Amino acid sequence: MCGIVGYIGPQPAAPLLLRGLEKLEYRGYDSAGLAVREDDKLRVIKTVGRLQDLRDILEHTAAPRGTLGIGHTRWATHGRPSDENAHPHTDCSGRIAVVHNGIIENYKELREWLVEDGHTFKSETDTETVAHLIESFYEGDLVAAVRKTIKRLEGSYALGVIHLDEPEVLVAARQDSPLIVGLGEGENFLASDIPAVLEHTRKVYILDDGEVARLTADKVEIIDATGSPVDKDVFEVAWDPVMAEKGGYDHFMIKEIYEQPKAVRDTLKGRVAEGRVVLDDVDLDSETAKKIKKIYITAAGTAYHAGLVGKYVIEKLARIPVEVDLSSEFRYRDLMIDEDCLTVVISQSGETADTLASLREAKRRGSRILAITNVVGSSVSRETHDVIYTWAGPEIAVASTKAYLTQLVSLYLLALYLAQERGTIDQGQLKAYLDSLQELPQGIQAVLDSEQTIAELAQEFKEKEDIFFIGRGLDYAVAMEGSLKLKEISYIHAEAYAAGELKHGTLALIVEGVPVFALATQTRLRDKMVSNMKEVKARDATIITVANRGDESIKEASDRVIYIPETEELFRPVLAVVPLQLFAYHAALARGCDVDKPRNLAKSVTVE
Ligand code: G6P
Repeated sequence: MCGIVGYIGPQPAAPLLLRGLEKLEYRGYDSAGLAVREDDKLRVIKTVGRLQDLRDILEHTAAPRGTLGIGHTRWATHGRPSDENAHPHTDCSGRIAVVHNGIIENYKELREWLVEDGHTFKSETDTETVAHLIESFYEGDLVAAVRKTIKRLEGSYALGVIHLDEPEVLVAARQDSPLIVGLGEGENFLASDIPAVLEHTRKVYILDDGEVARLTADKVEIIDATGSPVDKDVFEVAWDPVMAEKGGYDHFMIKEIYEQPKAVRDTLKGRVAEGRVVLDDVDLDSETAKKIKKIYITAAGTAYHAGLVGKYVIEKLARIPVEVDLSSEFRYRDLMIDEDCLTVVISQSGETADTLASLREAKRRGSRILAITNVVGSSVSRETHDVIYTWAGPEIAVASTKAYLTQLVSLYLLALYLAQERGTIDQGQLKAYLDSLQELPQGIQAVLDSEQTIAELAQEFKEKEDIFFIGRGLDYAVAMEGSLKLKEISYIHAEAYAAGELKHGTLALIVEGVPVFALATQTRLRDKMVSNMKEVKARDATIITVANRGDESIKEASDRVIYIPETEELFRPVLAVVPLQLFAYHAALARGCDVDKPRNLAKSVTVE
């Protein structure tokens, strides 16, 4: 999704803006640009393509020297990726420049109105209307013009605006799209996300919906939708800047895969004490927990796959019926949610537009909300009633890995907590589960140690155009995540299927040499799985099985076997997914794909 940066201070803005945009590259983009004030004009340089293309242009022209500027990486929504549609966008006079993330839903009416009023448009974007609206409202005060403008906008926006007439001012506004202000010494920054400013400061303001910020080099003033000044708390970022760097690894994705033992350990830290689950930011007492009649889980992408595991585990341990929905579906359903329900919202970024809208819809219907998120200060974390933070640290690669594992662990903690408060498991069982949860980091490390074998497997299958993943029960949920990882970064068509459902369709596609990953870690379903694997084998497919260490006889039904260490059955997804992450990574690498920034995808999907 689009990335926004802004700078005001004593240093040349262009290199700082570029550096900030680099830190937001993980969000996904197709064009990039910046606008810098230089003497009595605005230099706008923008291009379709990667940041390197923008850098090339800057090297071949005289790079702007000004110390006020805004920058943007665009992820096309309205209008194809092109130089003209890239941000920043300017007004007719070329004195105002705007960067925007989000969607202006009423842009067509606004554009018609502006055209009638004599404005000339240069792009197909919804954003350009904002530049012209500010132009039409400007009477010598940029903040006032931006405030009048946003009153006319419907939809979502994070905006960065500069005007030549006010060379000491950078204006920002936010509605349903994340935006932060980084507080420096004699300089200030604007960004869509914290990593963009971490090199310069760890002190930030997180803007809320309806707020407008006026940044000068020495001061940041924020006003709310009514125009009253807002006294904001400074948010101190705990991450170390190097946590958002590659640290010697070739890609963020592999670095993040290797961080998983630590991420899981951190997520468990302080949450298990004296044989019980302790959840600090969760206010669900026994009485409330006992009253929950139904749980809805809603999430997108990988987080949705974590939710599928959550359903299984909560139902088993806490005996509460659970429904899991994709948030893009959930938000438009005629939900039967009320105050007896708990809605669990899972989101790494805490900013996914559909997930946030789902949270609001469930809340509106009276449900208590419990969020599982990785980003402190994110919209989801601020709007929820209860929160379980996944202490995974910043996840930069578009393909989610460590966030997924920590989401699983958080769901286990939640299921065990509900079971403990509702009395659906006894103390002995609880202790056994908690002991085995704490052993997971070693188990993950053991799987990581087999990276080389998996890399060889990926080399062998890299030319394949279709790969299938099958499993039953929890293994089916893992199969879905394995398939998503592979397709999103290697562009190999991958499909996950419930093994028992194969003969209702997919078997028609299983022919000689097609690789099929068979997940066979669930003891109770193991023999059923073997029967399905035989069906596949009979069609001469190549079976790569993920099984529990010690299951020697599964070799008979497999062409290759990847073993995972022994652990409690419910927790096996945590270990079983790791070889699939490694396979996806190495397959993408072997095919020469841009592992961390897959085409057409974005890390944080802040538009519907
Ligand atoms: C995008 C990302 C995925 C992520 C999904 C949900 O599609 O590429 O990695 O799983 O959004 O994101 P969230 O931040 O809500 O977990």
